[in-house]
Amino acid sequence: MYRISELALKVGLSRSTLLYYEKLGLISSQRQANGYRTYSEHDLQQLKLLQQLQAGGLTLKECQACLETRIDRSLLLERFQALEQEIAQKQQSRDLLAAMLGKASMRGWHQALDSQAPGAHLAWLLKQGFNEKQALRLKWLSKDMNEHDHYMADFERIFDGLDRLGPGSAEDTLQALYALPTVPQSLLDIGCGRGLSTLLLAKHTQGLVTALDNDEYNLTCLKEAVAANALEDHVQLLCASMTEVPFEGSSFEAIWAEGSAYIMGFGNALKSWRRFIRPQGFLVVSDLIWLTDNPRSEASSFWQKNYPGMTTLENRVSSITSLGYRVVCSFPLSQHAWENYLGPLREKIAELSVQEFSSKALADIKDEIDIHERFLDDYGYQFFVLQKNSA
Ligand SMILES: C[S@@+](CC[C@H](N)C(=O)[O-])C[C@H]1O[C@@H](n2cnc3c(N)ncnc32)[C@H](O)[C@@H]1O
Repeated sequence: MYRISELALKVGLSRSTLLYYEKLGLISSQRQANGYRTYSEHDLQQLKLLQQLQAGGLTLKECQACLETRIDRSLLLERFQALEQEIAQKQQSRDLLAAMLGKASMRGWHQALDSQAPGAHLAWLLKQGFNEKQALRLKWLSKDMNEHDHYMADFERIFDGLDRLGPGSAEDTLQALYALPTVPQSLLDIGCGRGLSTLLLAKHTQGLVTALDNDEYNLTCLKEAVAANALEDHVQLLCASMTEVPFEGSSFEAIWAEGSAYIMGFGNALKSWRRFIRPQGFLVVSDLIWLTDNPRSEASSFWQKNYPGMTTLENRVSSITSLGYRVVCSFPLSQHAWENYLGPLREKIAELSVQEFSSKALADIKDEIDIHERFLDDYGYQFFVLQKNSA
């Protein structure tokens, strides 16, 4: 027989807990002549059994049900499923903390946040000490704040010496230029990259093309090409962000943006650039769109992670119209334009081995090429030649 204090010691519970269990009928004491409660060996074993059931995650009420009658499998199954969920949530919390401490990849977290709350994601990155250029590249390229610098160094090494940072061709650019009713004399090329289109526009308009990019290296490449083509009087270079274009309103007859509007979000870009275009002026912009309502699942999940805002032609046209532009014409970028980008990139990466890169940059580019090679029927780049509405 055990006194309550002895029993409490044996099972590691407090007196008040034992009294509560007694009240629930889980154990029962006998009163001695001196008024002390005593408990039997059966009570001790009953408590041990209860503790084993509790260790399985059952609540006290559930334990009681198990003790009183045959185990209810559906109750156990319910508890089991709830526990599995709790474990998965805890595992997620653990992974996130590990990632934030630099012990694991933050990619999944950045991607999820970016598709659910892109604005808050960007603002949070700025608070973590990244400048806007870094934060935007983190969002689109490295997708991991712990790997960012390292990733970007690898990324730049891969693209070093290549003229194109995205698909494009002289024929497509000129088709868009000649779709304009008049040849613009003042043009702003936003996100000009290494400037193949800038040079073409300067040659074919004879006006002034301002080439804006926030990457010094790209502008240095373009500067050399401008000099080599004797176009200094027709091209002005500007290192600035597309999110804060440093010009007065109505400064340009046309804005050109090949493969760059997505960086600040297609809709945001159209909204914020509109004021720099003269009344009745033009915006020529290209963007990735879905060519089918039912893309294959591999392509769909790749772009959900890499460009969650990608949509159909119909949706793009309707947002363009609601943002104060008229579609003059729109056409898909040619196969040849894709080859201009993918061909040299394939050759470049064939010279490089994954072992030389400890970041994911090379693996990511290989994945992207693979997706283009297998699924380009499901999506593509679309050129939009737009006129600013007067309203
Ligand atoms: C995919 S490339 C397109 C380059 C070029 N328009 C073409 O079609 O080859 C995107 C370009 O946008 C530039 N860029 C990225 N973020 C930018 C920003 N916030 N402001 C200005 N340029 C930016 C990059 O440096 C890069 O040159």
